[in-house]
Amino acid sequence: METGASVPVQVRPGAPLGGGGYRTRPLAPLIGAEILDIDLSKPISDESAAALRAIWHENCIVLFRDQTIGEEDQVRFAQCFGEPSMRLLNRHDGTSKSHPGVMFISNIRENGQLIGALPDGEMMFHSDQCYIERPAMASMLYAIEVPSRGGNTLFGNMYAAYDALPQALKTRLAGMRALNVYDYEGNPTHRGEARPEAPQHVHPIFRTHPETGRKALYVNRLMTEHIVGIDRAESDRILNELFDHLENPAWIYEHVWRPGDLLMWDNRCAVHARSDFDASERRLMRRCTVLGDVPYES
Ligand code: SIN
Repeated sequence: METGASVPVQVRPGAPLGGGGYRTRPLAPLIGAEILDIDLSKPISDESAAALRAIWHENCIVLFRDQTIGEEDQVRFAQCFGEPSMRLLNRHDGTSKSHPGVMFISNIRENGQLIGALPDGEMMFHSDQCYIERPAMASMLYAIEVPSRGGNTLFGNMYAAYDALPQALKTRLAGMRALNVYDYEGNPTHRGEARPEAPQHVHPIFRTHPETGRKALYVNRLMTEHIVGIDRAESDRILNELFDHLENPAWIYEHVWRPGDLLMWDNRCAVHARSDFDASERRLMRRCTVLGDVPYES
């Protein structure tokens, strides 16, 4: 899926969205903006934070390049969007020893122990924490070490996916819900047989974004197990159709990481996945998430 990365970017002059004075440039035709002229190691004013939130809401994902930030800086930046998540999810979660709001995603081992979560290889499309009652609103990754090839993160615009669904399917699935399950102890990057005790939650198939009021498709190949209230074979058929649809390259951007990139996505309207990479090369990403609300459809 080498799609979005090859899309030429064009600088949009000026500040398209209000008071922050930021110049932006699109990452792909239907998703993503790079925000220029900002140093995230410095505190951000309330006015600038409001401008950043507006750009983020419009684009689903935002990218900041060439940043030199520490854990405290990343958490302070996350606070511009909401309350950073401080939970310990499980023993493999890669939580930072110095800050409970920070975790690492890495394949690096120290003294034979992985220092981060989700270490190796390709990862199927998903939306973070859709298997709990209040999934993360925002997730942000800061790239510290990246492999020479691959380990890219792909992002899909789920407003665009919803808008492009056939009307008959929109009507059929309106108001319906699906069960999302995630088994940390199994294979965390590919769908597998989940144990009954794995974290799970039922959420709407179409989710209304509380800030934009737009509807987004809210199922994914890694974590959505079945549609509630219909026959399992029919559920599998519909979900497979939705998974293929939402992974359409038309609304996907593939991000090729450079050290110093910080990329933040909105889990309420974007899914993400990871491409494969050479396990012998080091990859180290620092992650913060921001707490979200209970998903609803209106
Ligand atoms: C994630 O799903 O949060 C991990 C994405 C990545 O490692 O690129």
